[in-house]
Amino acid sequence: MRFFVDTANLNEIREAAAMGILDGVTTNPSLMAKEGVKDVNAHYKTICEMVGNGDVSAEVFATDYDGIMKEGRLLAQLHSNITVKVPMIPEGIKAIRTFTEEGIRTNCTLIFSSAQALIAAKAGATYVSPFLGRLDDVGHNGMSLIASIRQIFSNYGIETQILAASIRHTLHLVQCAEMGADVATMPYKVIEGLFKHPLTDKGLEQFLKDAAKIG
Ligand code: G3P
Repeated sequence: MRFFVDTANLNEIREAAAMGILDGVTTNPSLMAKEGVKDVNAHYKTICEMVGNGDVSAEVFATDYDGIMKEGRLLAQLHSNITVKVPMIPEGIKAIRTFTEEGIRTNCTLIFSSAQALIAAKAGATYVSPFLGRLDDVGHNGMSLIASIRQIFSNYGIETQILAASIRHTLHLVQCAEMGADVATMPYKVIEGLFKHPLTDKGLEQFLKDAAKIG
């Protein structure tokens, strides 16, 4: 399972990369705005240079086919790590089909149903991004969406990867792994939380006390 960090904050990306377990980065317009990014392309280039061969999802702002194609082609030319992130709308699906024919990787975002995931996969999306936390927020079971997409993709040998998004905590991540999501994208704080267990802290404290007795 690959781990992506879901942020446009360069310090968080640097810290996550330094952990040695980071496989990529996802961003979206809200995350870019939160960081006050003005030169989006320069910011993507910096992110790409920070993650080695890691995959970096860069989202288009346009919602019409021509606009999505224009922005997506420019984003893809910025760096070989870039995957073009496209919203799950009819114009976006048409664009994903063309990007696929041009050999440009895509991430279909804002997926909230299995039917949407299947449509994106049929258009050739490299990734689909189901937002499980946002489904949980409105009283639906986000994890059952991951399970359903996994089942459908396995039924037909679909190669589109499931990029579980809107992950809020450790249990989400563990359950995504159990369901067979290919990738999980998480805020930096969630990645930090994966390391933690009070028994690890307690055990280490005791080991250190005993080590001091030895020498
Ligand atoms: O980047 C897409 C997704 O991970 C957003 O998560 O927490 O805004 O629902 P969230």
